[in-house]
Amino acid sequence: MQSTPLFQSRIGLGTWQMGEDPSQAKAECAAIVHALEVGYRLIDTAEMYADGVAESLVGKALGSFASNRREEVTLVSKVLPHHANKVGTIKACEASLRRMQCDYLDHYLLHWQGSHSFESTIEGFLTLQERGLIRHFGVSNFNQGALQSWRKAEANVGSPSRCQSNQVYYALNERGIEFDLLPAMEKQAIALMAYSPLGTGNLARHPGLSLLAAEQGLTAAQLALAWILRHPHAVAIPKSTHLDRVEENWQASQIQLSAATLSQLDALFPAPTRTSRLAII
Ligand SMILES: NC(=O)c1ccc[n+]([C@@H]2O[C@H](COP(=O)([O-])OP(=O)(O)OC[C@H]3O[C@@H](n4cnc5c(N)ncnc54)[C@H](OP(=O)(O)O)[C@@H]3O)[C@@H](O)[C@H]2O)c1
Repeated sequence: MQSTPLFQSRIGLGTWQMGEDPSQAKAECAAIVHALEVGYRLIDTAEMYADGVAESLVGKALGSFASNRREEVTLVSKVLPHHANKVGTIKACEASLRRMQCDYLDHYLLHWQGSHSFESTIEGFLTLQERGLIRHFGVSNFNQGALQSWRKAEANVGSPSRCQSNQVYYALNERGIEFDLLPAMEKQAIALMAYSPLGTGNLARHPGLSLLAAEQGLTAAQLALAWILRHPHAVAIPKSTHLDRVEENWQASQIQLSAATLSQLDALFPAPTRTSRLAII
């Protein structure tokens, strides 16, 4: 377990909005299986997504991919803030694991900051780690101030482990974190999990981006994803329930962007020049 990298692939599959319509369940499960078949080794889900149904779909897909290959996949789920005291965090994780028919999660995140103390959430995470139910813990939608408070809380409880990742909105059309949050995360070795990396789908339809991508034989979605992966420690978790798009997005992990392309992208989507409020979906 110790030698497994933090994330086993740099493109992961998001599952928000899966599981909401029972008539789509078969296609959604097929999309997750297809992702695993083409090479995705990272799946992001949460107890919140379709009230746990998305996690059940992930469990079903993992089972049909190959139950004896669980350790090849980095599985991420999240606890809802209102569950996130010590006991609630443990119970929520146990329920997520039951739905996913798994023995452990690779990353368990606090979905966003709520009213429970960070100390109580961390105590829950530490108990889960001791029981082998989670490998790492992290946070989501945390700005610099929240990260700082979290690190203080880790010290307050004498935590032997620390936050490994912050899952935040990051995409070409939403670059705010580059100004100060991302440098702060890099300094603290907190990995970036970029959510909504296609701008919830808008970037895939962006005319300027599509044109630039076409010039390189790419799609706009691929260009948007490859741009995120220019950060060596970042992962991106686009969601799609279309098999062809799942595959198209996966191919972005093989693309290296030239300095010229990066400048063209900067011209289309300028980098932030001042601090801004963290964008949250
Ligand atoms: N931590 C948090 O608070 C938080 C918040 C938001 C999201 N997330 C995570 O991040 C994941 C991704 O974010 P997201 O679902 O909001 O947005 P996204 O991945 O940026 O975009 C998803 C949308 O783009 C479409 N799409 C995907 N690939 C495409 C392609 N190659 N060409 C054209 N359209 C494409 C999808 O439609 P089809 O499915 O029809 O292909 C879907 O409508 C979520 O699923 C979730 O796991 C986390």
